[in-house]
Amino acid sequence: MILCLSAKVIYTFFFVLINKMLVPDLKKIIQPTWSHKLGYGINQGGWFKVKIASQAVTPEDPKILDKLGIKKGDKVLAIAGYYANWASWLAKNGAKVDYSDISRQMVNYVKKNVKTKFGKYICSNYELIPKKEKEYDWTFTFEACGSTQGLPIAYLRSLLNNKGGILVLYYEKGGHMGGKWRRYPNLVKNLSKIYKIRYTIKELKIKGHKKGKKTSYLLHRVYTIKTNNRAREMAKEDLKSLESNKFSKESIRRLVKLSKSIKREFLKEIKL
Ligand SMILES: C[S@@+](CC[C@H](N)C(=O)[O-])C[C@H]1O[C@@H](n2cnc3c(N)ncnc32)[C@H](O)[C@@H]1O
Repeated sequence: MILCLSAKVIYTFFFVLINKMLVPDLKKIIQPTWSHKLGYGINQGGWFKVKIASQAVTPEDPKILDKLGIKKGDKVLAIAGYYANWASWLAKNGAKVDYSDISRQMVNYVKKNVKTKFGKYICSNYELIPKKEKEYDWTFTFEACGSTQGLPIAYLRSLLNNKGGILVLYYEKGGHMGGKWRRYPNLVKNLSKIYKIRYTIKELKIKGHKKGKKTSYLLHRVYTIKTNNRAREMAKEDLKSLESNKFSKESIRRLVKLSKSIKREFLKEIKL
């Protein structure tokens, strides 16, 4: 007993010594750096007008749910939903989808113009939804930005779901979506290590079309994390800590590790 206790004290001492106590700073993270203007895209050069208002790939694959591991009737929260091509295709194929995006313009556009009707139209930072545990089966995104800002928090939140979280990237030779190709695997692997959950990374062809191009089978990568009761409890505790600024030692230990997926400018130092 004494031996076990002193081992814990020594571990904590070295943990504090080695790791600066940096944890995510929600206040800095939820600044809407990427909120989209309707009809515009953004790249390194800044905002540019888009000719076709759609996501980079519009899926048309009748086997989409199977391919993504979603069951008919599963409740899906689509985050960073953009023009809703993916969210509406999931809904058309039998998932119960709520659409969300941080941009009010985008949410209003989707409400008015996208034929498929969603359960809810949510205007929110993805770092703040879902609010409740087991409200959804899955959190889903196609190519959301923010993989070193708020996306790790959104996918920590996906551990509150019944099943977990799914991220999809379209693969284009030459490194389409640049950093996401490296950062998405880091994000899911880090979460899996911290919360002891299973993850899969699959490469598969999904029928669809790129803006203004013909339909074909396009290579995508699908990242999935699967939650469980223990992970849900830990996630709940850590999200509460981030919101209240009161941290248990266990939460700090996990959040310091999660911070490795997040840029320094979105972290804050705390003391034990
Ligand atoms: C899906 S992403 C990138 C576009 C992607 N290449 C595509 O084709 O789908 C763009 C969307 O994410 C939304 N977004 C960015 N940051 C967000 C955040 N923190 N929370 C919620 N939505 C966000 C933007 O408003 C925009 O509609």
